[in-house]
Amino acid sequence: MYSRLSPDTLLLPLIGLTFLFLPAAHPAKCPKQCVCDQIQLTVTCVNKNLTEVPPTVDEITVKLDLRGNDIQELPTGAFRQTPYLTHLSLQRCNIRRVKEGAFRGLGRLVFLNLASNNIDILYQESFDGLSSLKQLMIDRNRVEEIQPGAFSQLGFLNLLSLTHNQLVYIPNMAFQGLQNIKWLRLSHNSLNYLDIEAFAGLFTLNRLSLDHNELQLPGVTRLDMGYNPMTYLGEESVSMAKLSHLFLDHMSLQDLANTAVSKSPGLTHLDLSHNQLRVIQPFSDGTPNLARLHLAGNPIYCNCYMRPLREWAIRSKVKLVGTCAGPSHLSGEMLEAVHPPELRCQTQEAMLKAEFEEANRRAPPPTEEPESKVKCPANCVCEIEAHHSSCENRGHTKVPRGFSPDTRLLDLRGNNFHYIPSNSFPGVSQVVSLHLQRCKIVEVENGAFNGMKGLIYLYLSENLISSLSPEAFKGLPQLTYLHLEKNNFSVFPKGAFKLLPGLLALHLENNSIAKLEANALNGAESLRALYLTGNAVDHVSPKALEQAADLDTLHLAGNKLKEVPTEALSKLGNVKDLRLSGNVIRWVGPNAFQPLGNSLRELYLDHMGLEKVSGACSRLGPGLRSLFLEGNQLEEVPDLHPLTSLEVINLADNPLMCDCPLLPLRLWIEKVNLKVRATCANPPELKGRRVKDVHVFKACPGGEALPSVPGIAPKRAKTPKATKPKPAHLGGSVMQGKMLKSNFKLRKSPKTKAAKKTKRLSKV
Ligand SMILES: *[C@@H]1O[C@H](CO)[C@@H](O)[C@H](O)[C@H]1NC(C)=O
Ligand SMILES: *[C@@H]1O[C@H](CO)[C@@H](O)[C@H](O)[C@H]1NC(C)=O
Ligand SMILES: *[C@@H]1O[C@H](CO)[C@@H](O)[C@H](O)[C@H]1NC(C)=O
Repeated sequence: MYSRLSPDTLLLPLIGLTFLFLPAAHPAKCPKQCVCDQIQLTVTCVNKNLTEVPPTVDEITVKLDLRGNDIQELPTGAFRQTPYLTHLSLQRCNIRRVKEGAFRGLGRLVFLNLASNNIDILYQESFDGLSSLKQLMIDRNRVEEIQPGAFSQLGFLNLLSLTHNQLVYIPNMAFQGLQNIKWLRLSHNSLNYLDIEAFAGLFTLNRLSLDHNELQLPGVTRLDMGYNPMTYLGEESVSMAKLSHLFLDHMSLQDLANTAVSKSPGLTHLDLSHNQLRVIQPFSDGTPNLARLHLAGNPIYCNCYMRPLREWAIRSKVKLVGTCAGPSHLSGEMLEAVHPPELRCQTQEAMLKAEFEEANRRAPPPTEEPESKVKCPANCVCEIEAHHSSCENRGHTKVPRGFSPDTRLLDLRGNNFHYIPSNSFPGVSQVVSLHLQRCKIVEVENGAFNGMKGLIYLYLSENLISSLSPEAFKGLPQLTYLHLEKNNFSVFPKGAFKLLPGLLALHLENNSIAKLEANALNGAESLRALYLTGNAVDHVSPKALEQAADLDTLHLAGNKLKEVPTEALSKLGNVKDLRLSGNVIRWVGPNAFQPLGNSLRELYLDHMGLEKVSGACSRLGPGLRSLFLEGNQLEEVPDLHPLTSLEVINLADNPLMCDCPLLPLRLWIEKVNLKVRATCANPPELKGRRVKDVHVFKACPGGEALPSVPGIAPKRAKTPKATKPKPAHLGGSVMQGKMLKSNFKLRKSPKTKAAKKTKRLSKV
């Protein structure tokens, strides 16, 4: 990526002149108790009883490991000397107090671990300046208070882990500012009260771990969890004695266990409106007072599978609010008005299937050896409590059979199946998540997953699949997340998703797809996220994405596009996150993003060789929050004034020409107080100086009002560019991959089920 210049090569041409001002010309500093790796730029000072952050760590260090010291208190600006850190480990340092601004200046830090210290209060400005942080671990401290705004600067954080602390209470808006949080871990605290807006504003959260707390919520009678992107509500998820009104509307629920609310006996109103529920089972006993069940806005399919619910509702006097979405003769009909006998399965096939499943339910096959109560195939491990079965990395060449019918997670990754024949998964209709990564799969036969009517997550990543027929996904009415990254697709599997009406996220990263042809997404009408990073796409047909009008995430980074596929975007009014990094787009015209003017929130245009952006910004609208333009060939930057909501911008590594045409940028910088990372490349005498710190603009017409820049003497040039570290780019998709993996770990852990009295709210 870059090479450090050796002292000799630097000294020769520069002798005498700049010698004193070039820190890189000295041998790198290494504090005496530490081990320093000059190539990886890491400094390790573990278990040394250090009482302060060593002051002589080399400025260019990227990873600093200070575990096992005796630091007690982190003062303001403790890491001011090391602005390039991406990883900082501070476990077991007896830290009691993190002062306001302790981490100020660490704008590149991605990972911060403060576990196993004695921190008791998180102050309002404890984490200021950590504008790139993705993971923050504060487990095993004594945290009992989170001051308002403590996390307000952490707009990129994905994971916040606060397990094993002494939190008793979460106040309103405690997590304000965590705009990208995916997973919040609060397990093993003493929480007994959550303010009604404790989790307000966390629109991106998809996991909330609250196990091992003391949540009785005795006073809470109404709980509003609406607008969280949860997909599944597990057994006994909501366990609150006095709860009468529960709002779970506008989420992404695809399924809920019939015992999901059975530990909330006071429930009278349950709002499940505006989810993705197609079928709902009757609730188990446990909610004798339930009077209203709101189901409006769900794609409820009124066939024989809905009959048990309708019958139960009549019997238990529960009013169902909502309408049927299908089949056509019942479409739009009020659920209350449909008589149970009308709820039939129409086709021969569906009828047979229903009967087959009914028979399966009634008569458990008596073929098992009597001593084994749990059904589990040879060479596999089945956890009965957790409903998880795994045969990971066991060298199976055929999909094993004979799993327990209530298996919910089936992990078969790392075997040698080569192909998946039809009906490979009989009798496991409750599986929610199926893992088939790294199984050398070349072909998936039609009907391979027949009968898996509860499947929501299907992982087929890291196989050798190069084509798929629509029939391959037959019988998966609920499939929501499909992973096909790292396969052998050179052509987009057009039409393959026709039978997946509920598909929300499609992962096709790291294949070699070269084109997106017209109607590529035929049938995938509800698709919200399409991930195509790391392919070879050089053409997107204007009609390629037409069917997926709800798309909000489109990742096309690392492809071979030569222009923004504006026409293809023209039918997509909802895209919020568009990534085009690493393509070869030299010019972005004024209308390039016009179709997305109102929707776009994050736009990635970095590392593309971009030379000019003509007026496009003025049409991006005021909604844009993040704009990435680093690593391009921009000499000028378009006027950014119209982007009034911008929170993150990166202009680093562009050959900016610091002269009057750049004045609008300079004025904008003055106005917005954002870190823009804009550096002059020309004229030569200003090379390497921050746009904000040079005088030239004051002399330009309109620049008179700019403040003078005191005390910046031209000769105090900083370390030359070539010696600055460029930490590896951590793209969103990489992190997402990690998050998914860790999510999986948690799902797998049988411990989460352990304590029966534990109150859990979500299980995604
Ligand atoms: C650190 O302190 C502990 C206890 O005072 C002592 O046992 C240990 O040897 C010290 N370690 C170092 C590296 O000085
Ligand atoms: C991958 O696809 C290419 C053609 O697209 C084919 O030639 C090759 O054999 C495939 N590889 C495997 C392992 O199937
Ligand atoms: C794609 O490949 C790149 C480079 O090997 C890797 O960093 C990234 O994690 C991969 N992404 C996915 C989703 O597989």
